[in-house]
Amino acid sequence: MQDYKNPRLVVDSATTTPGKVAWRSPSNLALIKYWGKYGQQLPKNPSISFTLQNAYTETSLEYRPQTDNKPGIQLNFFFDGVQNEPFKEKIVAFFDSIAEIFPFLRQMEWTMHSRNSFPHSAGIASSASAMSALALCLCSIERRLFGYLEDESELLAKASYIARLGSGSACRSVYPKLAVWGETPAVAGSSNLFAVPFTAQVHEVFYTFHDDILLISQEEKSVSSRAGHGLMDGNIYAENRYTQARQRMYELLAALQKGDIETFGRIVESEALTLHALMMTSNPPYVLMKPNTLAAIEKLRVFRTEQKVPLYFSLDAGPNLHLLYPGEFKVDVQRFIKAELEQLCQNGRWIADEVGEGPIEI
Ligand code: DP6
Repeated sequence: MQDYKNPRLVVDSATTTPGKVAWRSPSNLALIKYWGKYGQQLPKNPSISFTLQNAYTETSLEYRPQTDNKPGIQLNFFFDGVQNEPFKEKIVAFFDSIAEIFPFLRQMEWTMHSRNSFPHSAGIASSASAMSALALCLCSIERRLFGYLEDESELLAKASYIARLGSGSACRSVYPKLAVWGETPAVAGSSNLFAVPFTAQVHEVFYTFHDDILLISQEEKSVSSRAGHGLMDGNIYAENRYTQARQRMYELLAALQKGDIETFGRIVESEALTLHALMMTSNPPYVLMKPNTLAAIEKLRVFRTEQKVPLYFSLDAGPNLHLLYPGEFKVDVQRFIKAELEQLCQNGRWIADEVGEGPIEI
């Protein structure tokens, strides 16, 4: 099993010059959901996602070889230009956990700046964009200091692997458009260790898809994703769920290839509701949807039937509703959002997003 541990990745502190790298990396929306994991951040079932465009994290990482070799990870961390102790502790723990993969992590003094394109309080999961941006920075530094990972696909595969260790869903954010994570016979080369790009004959309509995100509530979630995954271990529906997800990969991939938007929408909506059903059947059970989440779903279904617009919804592990539709319906859908859905959002806020081009080095 590839584990990327590499004792050769150490620098000569006397001759290594300080430097800086930076990446912008987007969030992603799972169409088939990852919910339940084992071992070291390995998924119980395969998942597939749209990479987004406008919801992203920008991270810069400066390095300077230490002269006095202090023990532990030396990190200065700034979020939105301000030092942030809780985030810093998380990053230090993460660097510690991957120090056998990048031994140079212990040799440098690091300064990291991070910012999100979306408001921090928006209730949008930022772990996917944040962890993928950081993983890409580390792989860029490896390329620069050691000359490895010259090949773009090698760099992205390793960045995906590292991002996974930080947050499972983050491993899918390194690729443009669509990415698959988790072994499935439906996708050659798929792996539990890293995501792969999914480009096999996807019908072009899906590349035009929008994902407008209704910010129904910006409160902190009562149960984190990490805890939610853990509760799957005691969920009596868990095994059936994993089987369902494996089968759905085939159905969804076929719909993506055929351009079958109706089947796509049916599966994606069921995935969202199944995710929340799993939360409600956990022990202890919990609910992350809000009354306005359901109100928006009802309005959406009426609009879809009456206006004959192929508008579908998805949910992450939270109350915010993702509205998915082909680009040609943008004007109709955004008019509908303004007329009927904005009032269900906290402070009337929503974010217009769409299928995106993947991370860029900045
Ligand atoms: C509902 O990737 O946030 O968004 O691996 O513990 O960091 P950790 O969990 P995380 O779980 C995301 C779950 C999801 C579905 C998905 O993105 O596939």
